[in-house]
Amino acid sequence: MTPLSSAINTFSLPFGEQRNAPLYGQDILSVNQFNREDLTYIYRVAHEMRSIVERIGSFDLLNGKILANLFYEPSTRTSSSFTAAMERLGGSVIPINNVQYSSVSKGESLPDTVRTLECYADVIVLRHPEVGSCALAAQYAKKPIINAGDGIGEHPTQALLDLFTIFEELGNPEGLSVTLLGDLKNGRTVHSLARLLALFNVKLNYVSPEVLKMPEEIVAELGKKKVKQEAFSELDGILPETDVLYVTRVQKERFASLEEYEQLKDLYVITPETMKAAKQRMIVMHPLPRVGEISMDVDDDPRAAYFRQMEYGMYTRMALLAMVLGKA
Ligand code: CP
Repeated sequence: MTPLSSAINTFSLPFGEQRNAPLYGQDILSVNQFNREDLTYIYRVAHEMRSIVERIGSFDLLNGKILANLFYEPSTRTSSSFTAAMERLGGSVIPINNVQYSSVSKGESLPDTVRTLECYADVIVLRHPEVGSCALAAQYAKKPIINAGDGIGEHPTQALLDLFTIFEELGNPEGLSVTLLGDLKNGRTVHSLARLLALFNVKLNYVSPEVLKMPEEIVAELGKKKVKQEAFSELDGILPETDVLYVTRVQKERFASLEEYEQLKDLYVITPETMKAAKQRMIVMHPLPRVGEISMDVDDDPRAAYFRQMEYGMYTRMALLAMVLGKA
């Protein structure tokens, strides 16, 4: 029996915070704060969360703890998976998904809003349209801030769940060829995932039109770490050697011109025909939502991992909440 299972089996006993535990009390703002040792620990806990949920559904590890879910941008997966994660661990959630109905609409600043919420909650999950907003919130908050997406900046918990998906589906990512496809300019999930994968010996293939290519500063940052990177405008050439195909949506909300968006939105569409050229042992991932870049006909292909990916997200977020609150 693992230490966490053992604790779960005795959860009626008082179970104190482990102040020297990894991530205890820390903000989660960027994937750059993690090393491979951290990832090993997070994924051990996430894997165990998965097995516990599959066995008993929920348990009282975070009984009495409160999460504030503060979303200034729309979300289905991130918001609801953090809620599910907290509730499966016995904690509760203050949901603020419509900031127009909060005091934000009266002009309250982000620093004041987070300092308000931390009076009531033990941890704050924040999504905001501006790059750097979560780092700003963390300067003011004493309780941990978890970045749930800051504009086109980062989405670290998405990258952590993406990598957990790769571990669970294909094993250790060492030596894999990972192809990132679509809107690599505005897609914060690919920015975070590329940085996280830089901890492993992977090859990164960037497939996008010129105007949506991976930002130069990220390519340069990974170049300094000697990550193998190559850019393409078409998928065909690189698909046969790809182990992970990570598809992204062209982000309408980030375009100034609707006309430009319309020209680019259907540039790449994954269909059953596309999948014929792919390896048998590979996976297709997508942070979702999708708006046509993967045909629904692909969903029954066992290589389509994007629905399983969402479930891995809940286990990863259960692990992160337990860790920042000193319970894992
Ligand atoms: N992947 C993701 O961030 O989805 P939501 O926008 O629905 O949270």
